[in-house]
Amino acid sequence: MKHLLSIADLSAAEATKILDTATELARTSDGQIKKLPTLRGRTIVNLFAEDSTRTRISFEAAAKRLSADVINFSAKGSSISKGESLKDTALTLQAMGADAVVIRHGASGAAQRLADNEWMSGSVINAGDGTHEHPSQALLDAFTIRKHLGKGSSDLQGVHVAIVGDILHSRVARSNVLLLSLLGAKVTLVAPPTLLPIGVETWPCTFSYDLDSVLPLVDAVMMLRVQQERMTELFFPNPREYSRYYGLNAERMRTLKKTAIVMHPGPMNRGLEISAEVADSARSVITEQVSNGVSVRMAILFVLLTGSHLEVGSM
Ligand code: NCD
Repeated sequence: MKHLLSIADLSAAEATKILDTATELARTSDGQIKKLPTLRGRTIVNLFAEDSTRTRISFEAAAKRLSADVINFSAKGSSISKGESLKDTALTLQAMGADAVVIRHGASGAAQRLADNEWMSGSVINAGDGTHEHPSQALLDAFTIRKHLGKGSSDLQGVHVAIVGDILHSRVARSNVLLLSLLGAKVTLVAPPTLLPIGVETWPCTFSYDLDSVLPLVDAVMMLRVQQERMTELFFPNPREYSRYYGLNAERMRTLKKTAIVMHPGPMNRGLEISAEVADSARSVITEQVSNGVSVRMAILFVLLTGSHLEVGSM
């Protein structure tokens, strides 16, 4: 594996290798060793042409914990905002000797384009391309689900996950449907008809318009942000109506199984898709998703840049 562009390119065995490596790396960061020498002398460039908090700092922390040198590069303040093409940006990164580029871009397919054109020789990691995919987020979500509900096995057989909300604009939903189903979980998408993409019938999951009927059935519920910045038309009457039918509030949370967990990739619209009470509740694993994100991104960099992986229990 050289690049991580899309979950669609991964086999179950490859995904499991990344998750197992993350499990091992998490043990080292929980313990005494904060930093591993694995990527000493390697250069990783964070190329963020779209806003990000969690993903950018998470990749930065991951690279630093593996002793790599990190160069942060965001659209604002760089020549991307002067209209420099992806090609010229890539040639610059190549000239600087980047071993890997972590790219977030508003255009679906941007990461693929960088990898296909061989403008640079390093690994390309997709950190979110338009509404297409966000593979590292799906891997950290699967890691979190596996930790809580994996029933001891390495796959997610028998686990039922609901993904709720703005599926239409969500690269997180696309990557998660592919990965969770690849690992054996059952996925149900819940959204108003206007926020489900055309062709969703062909995805490896089921879908429903009725949140209340799905909640008692699932082991994990992943709430998605309403992505107003990508909405060019009216997809629901008003925020209050949206919350009424598709928001996760305390009353709805009580209908979940006792062991079910609540997830959100962030950033949250508190009071819209999720109430503050739910976000801060004992069932919420939202901040844990953020910490797991560092271990999972360390694992991605480890596997791509060293060509090897770690077995659970090997460190
Ligand atoms: C997501 C993204 O950027 O796709 N956030 C993230 O990476 N944690 C989801 C979102 O923006 O709603």
